[in-house]
Amino acid sequence: MDSFNYFSPTEFVFGDGRESEVGALAKKYGAGRVLVHYGSGSAVKSGLIDRVTRSLDEAGLKYTLLGGVQPNPRDTLVYKGIELCRKENIDFILAVGGGSVIDSSKAIAAGVCYDGDLWDFYCGKAQIQKALPVGTVLTIAASGSEGSSSSVITKQDGMVKRGTHSDLIRPKFSVLDPRLTFTLPAYQTACGATDIMAHVFERYFTNTKEVEITDRLCEAVLITMVKETPIAVKQPGNYGARANIMWAGTIAHNDIVGVGRSQDWNSHGIEHELSGLYDCAHGAGLAVVMPAWMQYVYKHDVMRFAQMATRVFGCQMDFENPESTALEGIHAFRKFLHGIGMPINFAQLGAKEEDIPTLAGNMAEKYTTRGFVKLTRDDVRRILTIAAHAEI
Ligand code: NZQ
Ligand code: ZN
Repeated sequence: MDSFNYFSPTEFVFGDGRESEVGALAKKYGAGRVLVHYGSGSAVKSGLIDRVTRSLDEAGLKYTLLGGVQPNPRDTLVYKGIELCRKENIDFILAVGGGSVIDSSKAIAAGVCYDGDLWDFYCGKAQIQKALPVGTVLTIAASGSEGSSSSVITKQDGMVKRGTHSDLIRPKFSVLDPRLTFTLPAYQTACGATDIMAHVFERYFTNTKEVEITDRLCEAVLITMVKETPIAVKQPGNYGARANIMWAGTIAHNDIVGVGRSQDWNSHGIEHELSGLYDCAHGAGLAVVMPAWMQYVYKHDVMRFAQMATRVFGCQMDFENPESTALEGIHAFRKFLHGIGMPINFAQLGAKEEDIPTLAGNMAEKYTTRGFVKLTRDDVRRILTIAAHAEI
């Protein structure tokens, strides 16, 4: 195991109805005037925004509303949010929604405190030095942004999708009420589950030795997702399944399962090009990319893939031919994704094979220089070609 610092100071407030505490929580973390940032309508329709603003009123906090965040959140609304915060002297950003709303909130929080162009943080030109505090009320278990130090934004001009990291934008608190996810359509539930599993796999496929504890933590999250996702897809109001998935989503990405080991993240790097170009859901893109990446790299460490196959998907270990066990595990993963309604190839995702050179060419440099297996752009083209034609 490698040496590490683990710093993840978000206060998680978990359980049925806990969003009624959001006013007191914001006050505890220094809010005076709050920007309530939300998406394209689900949080208004469900009455959540009313409940949140009531709680802010009860805590004596002033607030301004800014809705309209779309999936694959755009820089254009972030700029609007920054301007609004400056005009209204906002000192706290409250994200009410999913990863897109939270990432947009983090971007606004950093942008308000920066004199230059916000995109500098996303294109690697500048590091975040200061940010307003952010709190969240999560409505979809997926991105892990409620406990992560990252934010992913899409530049409307050219649809380029890029991420930035800083502990300064890690949420101060996140309210996790599984009941808020009951209204999710099956497709979004499955997209979220795929993203959660991908966050674990990005950490699971490592070159670091003697990482039994984090291997086992990763496997616990993956096994939970394999068990609970089909339940939540079929029974959207199943509190137990929603609760397990929600907490799995947070620990999948606040790095508790990834410390002390090298990580991959190339599937995410490739996927961000897909959701940038086609504006598809991040989880759906991962469902197409990640099994293809696995097929392409498994020979690098056949025993690790065989371990995943036996421990997560219950495959029988073939000691004479571990490679067949590894391949069986990858097949089981793709079959699972297909079973929960995810696309598994380009046609189902709405992607085009002729775009492969563009997708591979645009992939952010940082992804091609590290990982479980370092990839050239040619490797990325081959992975995308496998993804384009995948079948069950
Ligand atoms: O906008 P509304 O109307 O709320 O609809 C949303 C949206 O259409 C809907 N939704 C959310 N909660 C709902 C609901 N519908 C009904 N009931 C509810 N309770 O779901 C749709 C998807 O929402 P979105 O926020 O886009 O989903 P997700 O949480 O998967 O976030 C995806 C974004 O996060 C980024 C992705 O790249 C993508 O842009 N990621 C962020 C990460 C991070 N900051 O750490 C890491 C991830 O790897 C990921 O890259
Ligand atoms: Zn992700």
